[in-house]
Formats: sequence, structure tokens, C-alpha cells
Amino acid sequence: MHKIAVVPGDGTGPEVVKEGLKVLEAVAQKKGFKYELTDYDLGGERYKKTGELLPDSIVEELRQFNAIYLGAIGHPDVKPGILEKGILLKMRFDLDLYINLRPVKLFKGVETPIKDKGPKDIDYVVVRENTEGLYTGSGGFLKKGTPDEVAIQESINTRKGVERCLRFAFEFCKKRNKDNKLTLCGKTNVLTYSFDLWQRAYNEIAVEYPGIQKDYAHVDAICMWMVKNPEWFDVIVTDNMFGDIITDLAAMTQGGVGVAAGGNINPEGVSMFEPMGGSAPKYTGQNIINPIASVAALQMMLSFLGEDDSAALIEKAIQKVVSEDMQSMAAGRMGQSTSEVGDKLADFIAKA
Ligand code: IPM
Ligand code: MN
Repeated sequence: MHKIAVVPGDGTGPEVVKEGLKVLEAVAQKKGFKYELTDYDLGGERYKKTGELLPDSIVEELRQFNAIYLGAIGHPDVKPGILEKGILLKMRFDLDLYINLRPVKLFKGVETPIKDKGPKDIDYVVVRENTEGLYTGSGGFLKKGTPDEVAIQESINTRKGVERCLRFAFEFCKKRNKDNKLTLCGKTNVLTYSFDLWQRAYNEIAVEYPGIQKDYAHVDAICMWMVKNPEWFDVIVTDNMFGDIITDLAAMTQGGVGVAAGGNINPEGVSMFEPMGGSAPKYTGQNIINPIASVAALQMMLSFLGEDDSAALIEKAIQKVVSEDMQSMAAGRMGQSTSEVGDKLADFIAKA
């Protein structure tokens, strides 16, 4: 029995989660596994009503689940940063979700803005460190609001934090067994402390993985290559901030945020899975948002729960629906409504 916490969240979050759960039910029927859902109303509405973001008591409850399935967090009436910091980042820190895993896979039939590149060229995974770097909130102001103001934002990189991320990436690369190449993305020419640590740790761990090809790219150069030669990449590992930036670029190359999903992973605890799209207020309630990313997040979740057959079947369903039934991956231009896409996926699974 998989115990799953569901956080539909804000905006279009509930709409895409609904389709994900439709697919979950279909695949559970087909493959015969059991699950139990518990809903949590975390998000902008709850905050507006109660002032609560992610209470510690709920963090404790979340620890008891096998996985967390999230829609989106973000509300037009709430100042930017509050919900992100108070819910999403707090969840990452408190549950120690130290890996942000972002598969970058272009499905057949999905349009990419990259000329002359296709599904065989765009198929890699970014492993982003998810609890350190510039995201720890370390720093502060001096003389705020005066002409002498100083603002300091520090990037925290611990040997332990860097090492566990790198180890995850090496293991993941080995298990994936595609090109067996792990690219460290950094900025060793300028960030001579943080990425010195990253590079030393990388080199030391690499000795334990003779089958993995070593590779390094500066973050600025990798942005060029992700566009010009995405086929060079198998697994990329990087810090929190660079990972945040390059995964948005990567998402665009795989067809946009309507397709891209991510996992916030604690390999030793509970992990959270989410579509990349955000709350998309302007599309909310219209049944036109693309639920594929949310279903791809579900696929990742099932794979982490050990339901590999189910995950593979969901991927097949996604491949079929994006290539045969959908006109575009963009909200409002799919040629299908949100719920129709979910129906088609569930249907494919039921008949598989
Ligand atoms: C992401 C998001 C978050 C981040 C924001 C919403 C805080 O952009 O998951 O990539 O910066 O990590
Ligand atoms: Mn981001």
C-alpha cells in the first residue's frame, strides 16, 4: 500500500493533479497495486485565510507518507517569495529533499525550438543539489535603505551536502546506463571556493566509478551546448542555483513547462514530485492547461515507489497521446481540454 500525500495547491495545480490521479487510478487497476491518498490544502488560499504556510505539525505528518504529489504553489494576491519560501523551500529543507531530479526528454511528436534536433538528441537528466548553495538564506543587509547599504547573499556548500549529491548523480548515471557520462556543471574559473570543493569531491568519487566518463562544463558554456549540442549530455550534476537556471532552459528544449516534471528527492526518506509549470493564474479554471507534466511527475513518483512497470506504461501512454492526440504542448492550443488529455491517457492504460 502506497501512502501518498496530495498537495493540489494553487491556480492550475488542482486541475493537473486531478488528471494525474485519474492516470494513477487507471494504472493501479491495470497493474494491481494499492494506494491511499491524503489531501493537504497547502497554498495561497490557505495562507490568505489562516496565515499558515507549512506548519511544522504538517511537516511531521508528511514524513509518514511514501511520497508527496504536488500541483503548484503560487498565488497572484500573495507577494512573491512568501509561498515559495514558506511552503516549497521549507518542504525541501525540512524533509531534506536534497536532490532535485529533472529528466529532460523530448518525446516523439513534441515540438522543440531547437532546429534539427529530435528525440534521440534530447534525452538527459539534470541532478540539482536542492538544499544548499544560494538557497539557504544565508546573508543579510548592512545599513539597509541608506546610500551605504550592503547586501550579502552567501552560497553555502558543505562537503557532506556536495558529496551526497555527487554520489547520487554517479549512482544514477550508472543505473541509467545510457552513455555513462556525468557532466559536472560549475564555474571553476570564477567561483574558486565553492566549485573548487565540488570539483575535488567529484574527482575523488569518480575514482570509484571507472565505468563513468568524466566531464566538466562551465555553466555559461553549458547553456550554449544545451541548445547547440544537447546530444552530448547524459547526466548533468550541479549546484542549486545553476540547476534552477539550466533546468528552465532544458524544459524549453523538451517542449516547455507543460511537459517537464521534477522530483524533490530524499533517497532515505519521503520524496515530492511536481510538474514544472507553476500555478499559471491566467489559465486557471478553464480546463486548458497541459496536464502532461503532472502525469510525468506521477510517472517519476511510481518509479521511486518501485512500481517500474506502471511507470513504463505511463511513459508509453504519454508518448502515444503527445504524438497522436495533441496538437501542441501549449495551454489552450492542445486541440484537447485538460480533462480530455487525462481521459486519453487513462484510456490507453486501461486498454494496454
Ligand atoms: C523551481 C522553482 C523554485 C526554485 C522557486 C519557485 C522557489 O523555480 O523549483 O525550480 O527556485 O527552486
Ligand atoms: Mn526554477
